[in-house]
Amino acid sequence: MRTQVAIIGGGPSGLLLGQLLHHRGIDAIVLERKTRDYVLGRIRAGVLETGLVRLMEEAGVADRLHREGIVHDGTQIAVSGEMFHIDFKRLTGTPVIVYGQTELTHDLYDAREAAGARTEFEVDHVAIHDADSDRPCVTYQQNGQEHRIDCDFVAGCDGFHGISRQSIPLTARREYEKTYPFGWLGVLSRTPPVHHELIYANSERGFALCSMRNENLSRYYVQCALSDHPEDWTDAAFWQELKRRIPADMAEQLVTGPSIEKSIAPLRSFVTEPMRWGRLFLCGDAAHIVPPTGAKGLNTAASDVHYLYNGLRQFYEEGDSEGIDRYSERALLRVWKAERFSWWFSGLLHRYPDQSRFDLKMQQADIAFLRDNEAQQRAFAENYVGLPY
Ligand code: FAD
Ligand code: DHB
Repeated sequence: MRTQVAIIGGGPSGLLLGQLLHHRGIDAIVLERKTRDYVLGRIRAGVLETGLVRLMEEAGVADRLHREGIVHDGTQIAVSGEMFHIDFKRLTGTPVIVYGQTELTHDLYDAREAAGARTEFEVDHVAIHDADSDRPCVTYQQNGQEHRIDCDFVAGCDGFHGISRQSIPLTARREYEKTYPFGWLGVLSRTPPVHHELIYANSERGFALCSMRNENLSRYYVQCALSDHPEDWTDAAFWQELKRRIPADMAEQLVTGPSIEKSIAPLRSFVTEPMRWGRLFLCGDAAHIVPPTGAKGLNTAASDVHYLYNGLRQFYEEGDSEGIDRYSERALLRVWKAERFSWWFSGLLHRYPDQSRFDLKMQQADIAFLRDNEAQQRAFAENYVGLPY
């Protein structure tokens, strides 16, 4: 079979790219290793930058997001039992939208189905061939049968563990990585959020985050040891630990309940360069990972999609390859800024095993500077709501 763009990976990057291309009459097939239900069962990001919201609008899939997404004009930072507020709206004119990645992915799958666009699930042994030529192709197996897609371009949207990045010869790419000596234990519960804004907490016992999905669905995280397993943490132990890391008045108000999901995510900073090899373009987690502090993962995937979509549109509609030729350079410029912010914000809030007394004083001074200095708050807010693209 033949298509214009073969998209590997049916996560948010692949689906959003597919939907934007579809709107422009550019044909794409999405290949996804798992089932739709499996993809939709993964609880991940929850905060959308307005750039991502604009892309969803452009793809014609923002109706539910506008109805159900919760506008957040600011956030709370807690330290030593006190909270202070950072007002995104006043400092930047822009809010963020709380809307789960699961919901966004759901909307994109529904739109894809309604448009009759082709998605192949449960594909195996996906391989990219001749990406460094004008005629790349993708082969895969499904139900034991071999398939082949001839295409103009391949979009590698298959996440950190996908095959797209590995298809680029080692001599043609360079990787940058930092791992962190802790993870995040996350719990989803059918309880009202403890506060109407997110609370990012630095405490002696480690980081905690109070987030939400809607008025009766809360998402909470605590920093945990990398050796911990979700089964080690009873719900009671989780709630007790969370309460000890947030200000006392918040702990008192916290409504607890049974967890409906509990998982541990390791923290990693990772970038591969370049994000293009011939006719293969890497997008989203396939090219870079950020630690979740500051919710930049999904949003940075979206800015890649923006640059790639516009490059492909320019190529097909105007016969101009400038956009795809400069894709990697443009995407990476923004990626590294998101990497910097996520790394800095992680450093601001977590307890590190090797942190010296001096390091702790630096962290406290950094937080106090953020609390007391409007220029620093503005810089924070600009990064949090998303740098322009
Ligand atoms: P993915 O969502 O990883 O999608 C890739 C898709 O490709 C998957 O569906 C996968 O099944 C498929 N795939 C993989 N290999 C193949 C193959 N060989 N063939 C075909 N398909 C394949 N970000 C935040 O901002 N906030 C958070 O709280 C947050 N929490 C996270 C928690 C976890 C456990 C993880 C892993 C990530 C989290 N992120 C978070 C990051 C955010 O979810 C990602 O940045 C976002 O999912 C990136 O989207 P993507 O489409 O690029 O990659
Ligand atoms: C969520 C996750 C984050 O990493 C973050 O910074 C904010 C919110 C969330 O899952 O709701």
